[in-house]
Amino acid sequence: MGEMHPAELLAGLGASSVVPLRWESSRLYLLDQRALPHQERWIPYDRAEDVSRAISDMVIRGAPAIGIAAAFGMVLAAGPDTGTGAASLRAAWLRRAQEMEASRPTAVNLRWAVKRMKEVFLGLPEGLGAGGVAKRLEEEALSIWREDVEANLAMGEHGQALLPEGGGVLTHCNAGALATGGFGTALGVIRAAVARGKKIRVFADETRPWLQGARLTAYELVRDGIPVTIVADGASGFLMQGGLVQAVVVGADRIAANGDVANKIGTYNLAVAARDNDVPFYVAAPTSTLDPGTRSGDAIPVEERPPGEITSVCGRRIAARGADAYNPVFDITPARLVSAIVTEKGVLTPPYGPAISKCLS
Ligand code: MRU
Repeated sequence: MGEMHPAELLAGLGASSVVPLRWESSRLYLLDQRALPHQERWIPYDRAEDVSRAISDMVIRGAPAIGIAAAFGMVLAAGPDTGTGAASLRAAWLRRAQEMEASRPTAVNLRWAVKRMKEVFLGLPEGLGAGGVAKRLEEEALSIWREDVEANLAMGEHGQALLPEGGGVLTHCNAGALATGGFGTALGVIRAAVARGKKIRVFADETRPWLQGARLTAYELVRDGIPVTIVADGASGFLMQGGLVQAVVVGADRIAANGDVANKIGTYNLAVAARDNDVPFYVAAPTSTLDPGTRSGDAIPVEERPPGEITSVCGRRIAARGADAYNPVFDITPARLVSAIVTEKGVLTPPYGPAISKCLS
């Protein structure tokens, strides 16, 4: 299984046919997630700077998926248009790496993937030429993708055991195949539980302002035939009070050394409501999302996006003119509200500090 192309690995699963990216004939194709679910539009990329922009503009999103896209972007950065001599190739490539890392600030998988690519790049023998460099980088990007798919599958197996035989499972944003190399983190856990015969009904928060839940999570689950009900973001507490939710499963953009979790804005509110209603709150994330270098959640940079994302919907202004809008797109859930963190290496439980160090050692 180790050397299989990620696409083959996914094809063998039969669980979900959705992937957020393709790599064909040295070209990167991204499924434009801004157009889903109404349009399946694939955009081709030949230049690293365009991939950075695609990440900032949300053509592709979701922490592991942007890490994988960035890795392929760094393959493209070794292309013939970056310069001729070894020194200029190196300088241009490193500049692109810096731009790539800055394309979104919160998801640590992006920096993790670029760092991996940089280690390969800097370790290459001199005189390899742009083609040789690109080939070696391509191998690394494919490994990053394949490892992510394998991690999702392993998380699915570990995490499904935490879910009940039947009942409601609530999720936030999209932590599915579209947000990863394929299969998903939180949705991977749900997919694995359903594959085991568990009778799960998914509640998907619509997830304002980008509506990743209503558009993307619902799209993936409908395609897979998994029952999904979309709810307004503010409805989760009411659902829990009514006994409709037996577990919450979300993904993460970064998990600090103490177990604090950065994830889509609204995740913290969900964790508070879950605690108040004795509903377990699970986070599913690969070890590439763990950031041992960040001590706690207050040191995680939280991305703020343009206010227009809140005041308009699908390009149409809905808010009263003259009102300000504030658009932080992630929040921090303190470790004390997290019942367990599901990784590909197993399920971590509190205290998370030692559990995370052990998991990464
Ligand atoms: O702004 P987005 O859509 O990139 O935010 C995505 C999330 O918050 C996901 O929950 C997270 O990246 C985990 S994806 C497996």
